[in-house]
Amino acid sequence: MENTRGYEVKSRVEDKYEKIVKLAKRRGFFWNSYEIYGGLGGFITLGPLGVLLRNNIIEKWRRVFIHPHQEFIVEIDSPIISPEKVFVASGHVDHFTDYVVECKRCGRNYRADHLIEEATSLTGLEKLTPNDLTKIIIENNVTCPECGGPLSEVKTFNLLFKTTIGPYSGNIGYARPETAQGMFVNFNRIYQIMRRKLPLGIAQIGRVLRNEISPRQGPIRLREFTIMEIELFYDPKNPSCKYIDKVLEEKLRLITGENVVKGDKTPIEVTVRQAVENKMILNEWNAYFMALSKKFLEELGVPAEKQVFIEKLPEERAHYAAQTYDQLVYVERWGWVEVSGHAYRTDYDLKQHTEYSGKDLRAQRRLEIPKVVKTVEVKPLLGRIVKDFGKSVVSPLLDYLNTADKEKIVEVLRKSGELKVAVNDKCISIPASYFQLNEKMERIEYEKFFPHVAEPSFGVERLFYITLEYSYTEKGNRIVLRIPRDLAPIKVGVLPIVEKKDLVEKATEIYNVLLSQGFEVIFDSEGSIGRRYARLDEIGVPFAITIDRDTLENNTVTIRDRDTWQQVRVPVDKVSNILMKAFKEPGKSLFEIIKT
Ligand code: GLY
Repeated sequence: MENTRGYEVKSRVEDKYEKIVKLAKRRGFFWNSYEIYGGLGGFITLGPLGVLLRNNIIEKWRRVFIHPHQEFIVEIDSPIISPEKVFVASGHVDHFTDYVVECKRCGRNYRADHLIEEATSLTGLEKLTPNDLTKIIIENNVTCPECGGPLSEVKTFNLLFKTTIGPYSGNIGYARPETAQGMFVNFNRIYQIMRRKLPLGIAQIGRVLRNEISPRQGPIRLREFTIMEIELFYDPKNPSCKYIDKVLEEKLRLITGENVVKGDKTPIEVTVRQAVENKMILNEWNAYFMALSKKFLEELGVPAEKQVFIEKLPEERAHYAAQTYDQLVYVERWGWVEVSGHAYRTDYDLKQHTEYSGKDLRAQRRLEIPKVVKTVEVKPLLGRIVKDFGKSVVSPLLDYLNTADKEKIVEVLRKSGELKVAVNDKCISIPASYFQLNEKMERIEYEKFFPHVAEPSFGVERLFYITLEYSYTEKGNRIVLRIPRDLAPIKVGVLPIVEKKDLVEKATEIYNVLLSQGFEVIFDSEGSIGRRYARLDEIGVPFAITIDRDTLENNTVTIRDRDTWQQVRVPVDKVSNILMKAFKEPGKSLFEIIKT
């Protein structure tokens, strides 16, 4: 997911964001990190309710994107820190940059393009160089928004967080800014585990870090956040998505690059079929995932008309992408903000890692007609190699010979007269005379190729904020968080109507039953019943079970619906069943549920 600003920026007013931030702090959804040390921009801490909500969003994503495709989409979990080479190969060391400008008076740093956009009416600054931006700042007399001081020249700033690995200052490592590279560097192994079949999807959900220059949008722009993404590898000679039929008539609101160039950002509504046939979306897999993403956002509470997909112009796209659509959602304070990115990454990453690692990251496809060709077999003379270079060289050498591109090995041996092998961080050169090159005729049934990649990528904390914003309502002077039932952090409240021993005992019994059935339940016996309902409403608890005098007499309770405030009286032994149905059928009211 590429960090962008929305294409419309709203001025700061007392708005939902402000209200949500207050509620979130008070009730434990999220707050700025390191509060006791004055806070640190771009970092948030999730509280007890925040963790539950975040986990529910992630679980829903798995249900929509992985579960139905589990025969070919699998999830992995790779490290956050990687050696320098990985991000040199991926292009992030060279390209993952923004432009920074510093106030010469107060020393504050700003993202140059954002500052210019805010101070002038100029847009579309992505193509410009640091010199161009510096000129614009001078010509438009742009100054520091905080102290009015003059600004420095614009410079390039790399957003990767850099570290060293172990006690070796030369051993540079980077924190990943996307989980994607974990999928690319492990492609061979997973391709093998999945019995060398394409399409193959590798999914990952994990923390990433981006050293943003001046993040000022709460959970929308963070320096450390969670990404959920899939790299879907497919054969470019067989690019069709086998699920596309399921979504062909689904409507998407698109702003195509062609229209953006003309200055027209009015969304057009097209079916997935039209978008694919007219090449508005270049490949079926991206189109399929975009349709799923629309549905996923609807399930988080965002109606279709508050979503749009905008195509990035070539100069706005990440270095690896041939096409990217960002999925934007409307929020009150910032206008349209990106929640997911849909990139067509082609074979860029696998080719880069093949070149930099020397390992062959190609897939294979069966030839329609097998062919017989002359090949060269490389046979290491292991006895001599062990004698002259030691035993430790054998395993890395054989590993290299088995995994590197065979033709490349022969080419290297013939051209350079040696083969270089990494053994325990040292590079050993083995002369060509230690290898036999045997030419032979071979029947070839498979050919190798680099798969192409479609990538949907989501920022979890943005989705988390958006779920809160779309569920935030006020009824009179009360807050009601209408979080979709299945996403609600707490599912049921159990409330004895007054704090009397016999009522508390009965309520505890019901609480324990619900707990043992897997519901997240809250027990509250303090304060007036009205205040307790209000407390449950503002953290989005969909149902409250109230235990009163009648409960003791006839074993019935009332169930209260958060969204309608209606109550129904039901026998205690029916409660779990009714709740289970209500969570399975979120569109139905409590009355409709008990009628069935
Ligand atoms: N992997 C998508 C991104 O980094 O934005």
